[in-house]
Amino acid sequence: WTVPALVALGSYLLGSIPFGLILAHFGGAGDLRAIGSGNIGATNVLRTGRKGLAAATLALDAAKGAVAVLIAERVLPGLGPLAGVFAFYGHLFPVWLRFRGGKGIATYLGIALALFWPCGLTFAIVWLAASLLTRHSSIGGIGAALLTPVCAAYFFESALTLMFLAFGLTVLWTHRANIVRLFAGTEPRIGDR
Ligand code: G3P
Repeated sequence: WTVPALVALGSYLLGSIPFGLILAHFGGAGDLRAIGSGNIGATNVLRTGRKGLAAATLALDAAKGAVAVLIAERVLPGLGPLAGVFAFYGHLFPVWLRFRGGKGIATYLGIALALFWPCGLTFAIVWLAASLLTRHSSIGGIGAALLTPVCAAYFFESALTLMFLAFGLTVLWTHRANIVRLFAGTEPRIGDR
């Protein structure tokens, strides 16, 4: 039990690092939680006008999910999914921010890539295509989050299907304010401040 417990704790702590908040703060963009949607993710960093910081936030939030999975698989093969779950929910509920974290899209992407790259790639393609077509990052994120369990089911990866389904439903919940804005026609488009 000690090894899985330590992997879970380590993955939670890694996932809970709020890279967007840290980069925006040290990049001179102020407190991200007082800007735009108030979210700590790459989309909101982009609203500060700093594209490089937004790209770095996306990369680092994805990397922490992937690194948690890869380390866990090294420690004990088969522990990757456990690490993925704890890293994902660590990003959403970081102890440092009174459990008010991000919406999980970039971290989900990194976890999916590290656990089963065909579905990670599917996630990336759906997210990019839907975001660019609609110019709503939230539609891209929600679409990718809901299609990734379908990808896992297609490959008969039953444990991953369940895990990605849980992530997908959680992403619907983290995007509840975005969904309300989308229906009201008030959701800002990518590039809007
Ligand atoms: O990944 C988060 C994105 O889907 C929505 O971000 O800042 O528009 O709520 P935001």
